[in-house]
Amino acid sequence: MNMWSHQKIREAFLKYFVEHDHLVIGSSSLVPVGDPTLLLVNSGMAPLKPFFTGEKVPPHKRLCNIQKRVRTNDIESVGDRHHLTFLEMMGNWSIGDYFKQEAIELAWRMISEVFKFDTSRIYVAVYAGNNKLPGIPPDNESHKIWKNLISSERIVRLDAESNFWGPAGAYGPCGPCTEVFFDRGESYGCGRSTCGPDCECGYFLEIWNAGVFMQYYLQEDGTFTELPFKSVDAGAGLERFAVVLQAVDSVYETDLLKPIVDTIVWRSNLPADSRSTRIIVDHLRCSIFMIADGIRPANLGREYILRRLLRRTFLHSKLAGIDTAVLQEAAVMVREIFSTYYTELKSAGELIKHILEQELSSFEKTLNRGLREFNKIVSRSSNVISGDDAFRLHDTLGFSIEITKELAHMHGLTIDEERLKERFEEHRARSRGKT
Ligand code: ALA
Repeated sequence: MNMWSHQKIREAFLKYFVEHDHLVIGSSSLVPVGDPTLLLVNSGMAPLKPFFTGEKVPPHKRLCNIQKRVRTNDIESVGDRHHLTFLEMMGNWSIGDYFKQEAIELAWRMISEVFKFDTSRIYVAVYAGNNKLPGIPPDNESHKIWKNLISSERIVRLDAESNFWGPAGAYGPCGPCTEVFFDRGESYGCGRSTCGPDCECGYFLEIWNAGVFMQYYLQEDGTFTELPFKSVDAGAGLERFAVVLQAVDSVYETDLLKPIVDTIVWRSNLPADSRSTRIIVDHLRCSIFMIADGIRPANLGREYILRRLLRRTFLHSKLAGIDTAVLQEAAVMVREIFSTYYTELKSAGELIKHILEQELSSFEKTLNRGLREFNKIVSRSSNVISGDDAFRLHDTLGFSIEITKELAHMHGLTIDEERLKERFEEHRARSRGKT
């Protein structure tokens, strides 16, 4: 048995912060409450926003938890070693209590003493400043604090794109942050001369946003104002911690996801590390959590996100010859792994089963017809699928552009986006004319 099972990682994280006077709070639902800026909870801090602004008083000034969250902004990267749509964020917060010094020291002791990461492979980043955000200076203070803990060659300065976090949504609390990376070795690298901690190739795996220094509020008009007090919002990805601590190649080989991967692989010809296996496992797990939180597939908002995830799961399953029974088994496995921590999964078994069945049966005809038609189109296309063909699949067969794009990608083809856009515009103009 691996020493750092996901259960042990969870326990060690929370115990450490409790020992440092943090109060454990539960994970909130994925459906945001009273927050018009978000469709889904996308970070550990999202449900806590009113504490940072001072609108609400927290039960304690130091909090910690493991929060489920959904992020689909980089859904196209799912299939690589570490991108996921559903994630668990191990978070610690200071609401108007400690700031940079203590946050960084707490993070360092946890890395070096609790989890005993090989510290010679740790890199950190601090905010370098950015002329697009005038008035928000480079974070020299964090640089100085880190310098007392690790050698300066392993501290990098990154700009706003990487090291200014938030708001979670269109407006809200935000600030510069300091991130921790684990050097996984050159074999994971892209070999580019520019490769460094902020490169996405996997050489340096970001394991922890060790502190967003919540000091600013981005207003709806794009201006920044100071928050009434300074806070810290830190978040470590459970899955990425598990990758490093369990010494595995990808998140799919951690004990969080491997049993689900195995369920799919045993009953199909898909290799465990194929993009399709990973998409099915990731999207199915995410969908199950969304369903358990009351979301139902439909055509708008978060309901559409769920539909899109399910349909992509069905597409990849269909192409690999995986039938619903296997997906249902994988769904049971998801519940087995996670219902100890997320008890809402316990009673949702029948519901999940029913929604998977219902959604598949409403999509199956479209999927079959669309695939037949798509194959015909492929046989007469060279490298590009015409905008007219993609539009026809959508307009007459109800085959969404996303699915066509996904299939095109799998065949190494592109879509003539310009023509497609024209067709959509013509269609909209005609519909307006009719009213
Ligand atoms: N809210 C910060 C993040 O999600 C910690 O990275």
